[in-house]
Amino acid sequence: MPDTLTEEVGRRRTFAIISHPDAGKTTLTEKLLLFGGAIQLAGEVKAKKDRIQTRSDWMKIERERGISVVTSVMTFEYNNHVFNLLDTPGHEDFADDTYRTLTAVDAAVMVIDAAKGIEPRTLKLFEVCRLRDIPIITFVNKMDREARNPFDILDEVEQKLALDTAPMTWPIGQGRSFAGTYHLAKSAIRKSDRETELTPVNGPESDAVAGLLPENERATFIEEASLAAEACKPFDLTAFREGHLTPVYFGSALKAFGVRDLIDALGEFAPPPRAQVADTRTVEATDPKMTAFVFKIQANMDPNHRDRIAFVRVCSGKLERGMKARLSRTGKPMSLSAPQFFFASQRQIADTAYAGDVVGIPNHGTLRIGDTLTEGEALVFQGVPNFAPEILRRVRLEDAMKAKKLKEALQQMAEEGVVQLFSPEDGSPAIVGVVGALQLDVLKERLHAEYGLPVSFDLARFSICRWISTADKNDLERFVTSHRGDIARDLDGDPVFLASDQFSLNYEAERWKMIDMVAIKEYQ
Ligand code: G4P
Repeated sequence: MPDTLTEEVGRRRTFAIISHPDAGKTTLTEKLLLFGGAIQLAGEVKAKKDRIQTRSDWMKIERERGISVVTSVMTFEYNNHVFNLLDTPGHEDFADDTYRTLTAVDAAVMVIDAAKGIEPRTLKLFEVCRLRDIPIITFVNKMDREARNPFDILDEVEQKLALDTAPMTWPIGQGRSFAGTYHLAKSAIRKSDRETELTPVNGPESDAVAGLLPENERATFIEEASLAAEACKPFDLTAFREGHLTPVYFGSALKAFGVRDLIDALGEFAPPPRAQVADTRTVEATDPKMTAFVFKIQANMDPNHRDRIAFVRVCSGKLERGMKARLSRTGKPMSLSAPQFFFASQRQIADTAYAGDVVGIPNHGTLRIGDTLTEGEALVFQGVPNFAPEILRRVRLEDAMKAKKLKEALQQMAEEGVVQLFSPEDGSPAIVGVVGALQLDVLKERLHAEYGLPVSFDLARFSICRWISTADKNDLERFVTSHRGDIARDLDGDPVFLASDQFSLNYEAERWKMIDMVAIKEYQ
């Protein structure tokens, strides 16, 4: 009897696209979904984005500033593989959301604008991927426009990212004469993404290739493609999977070139679901018992139904509709009665999801970011990060009668990961913390639109926040007692030290060497 679990897990590919805004992530996503049959017409993803934007008030921010606030997941099948594409917000003010999403993927596609090369945001996101050894496939987009020389781009990736490159395809022409991709190792071409199969040819000098180009560009193509085939590093699957080498594909998401090469590469080379580290053991994806963790919460996706969806990554086994799971944080059981899959155009109840899949679990606040679900085993997945906020504010309520409502609303927003919430030990009003200023705008808009709470923000006397811990509990107590006015508790009740500036942080850290003060907390 075939082992369905191993087979099903083996065909999962869970990935994200990382890029600088405008490099073409949305256009590429759309094409991937189109080939995967998840949407029928090009334009649906963009149209959906627009529709969502007009549907919800707080997303006005997104519309006005041309950024994507919403992280979502899209599942589609192609050539017997099941792809889970996790989208990430493009704007750096939502970096913490993006980092958490990257904890849930096994591979990433790095989209580079062929004219611009590596841009700042790409670099940052790449660094996060490197920290987690996430293998990266590179897609050099917009080859249909004026582009830099492909060797230049490869060079830049190697230099700026300290990452080996292996060009897998070579662009047949560029700019207006871009006519398709040539597969260096396979000696085959694909004229456009309408062709599902590659056409074998007799080397770059074959008439079938050269004939696609204007005469004056043929010699350059033959020379460059031959050089790339001979002189560039060959693809090495192990080096790729370990995050040391990136296979590079050229194309145009808009004009539909090279996207099929990319999706084939994801199926062929990107790893199946990886093992995940928990506090008690490492969990293999093919372990028969279900385990999963929450990396994102989204509330009010549809303002007509005040729903709250926890996005969970299944880490092992099989998640079945109706199953009882154990929530590690509380030790309590919860019923997974209506897990959902997200296709581009609709949500669908998921009867079965396998390791690698990402499903949405509707709940009323039971689940939080970083939570682990199991079939009963007491384990907690490590590594979903919580970043110390860069901006701290007190929320000023215009109507003081609504203080209780505000408290509830802030608690919910904090559980969703929109802001971090800190309750000072001295009983003074709560402090909210964010990584980027736009998150404050989102908080303000949402408090107004969803809870009817007009608020403004006051400067807090603190600007830095650090989680504190010690080997000896007594040391921590002494520190807390002697700094009561500067101590607060986060959502989990863990203590933080609030400093007015870097100087006083350094001063206290020097005086209290036994206290660990950290800027990143992993959810436990
Ligand atoms: P993003 O999600 O990474 O921010 O980028 P998005 O796909 O929205 O693309 C940014 C702009 O670049 C869009 O143009 C898009 O049409 C264009 N684009 C994407 N891929 C390609 C490509 O392969 N070739 C060319 N020539 N252009 C590409 P826009 O004018 O800003 O938006 P729109 O009016 O076309 O929607």
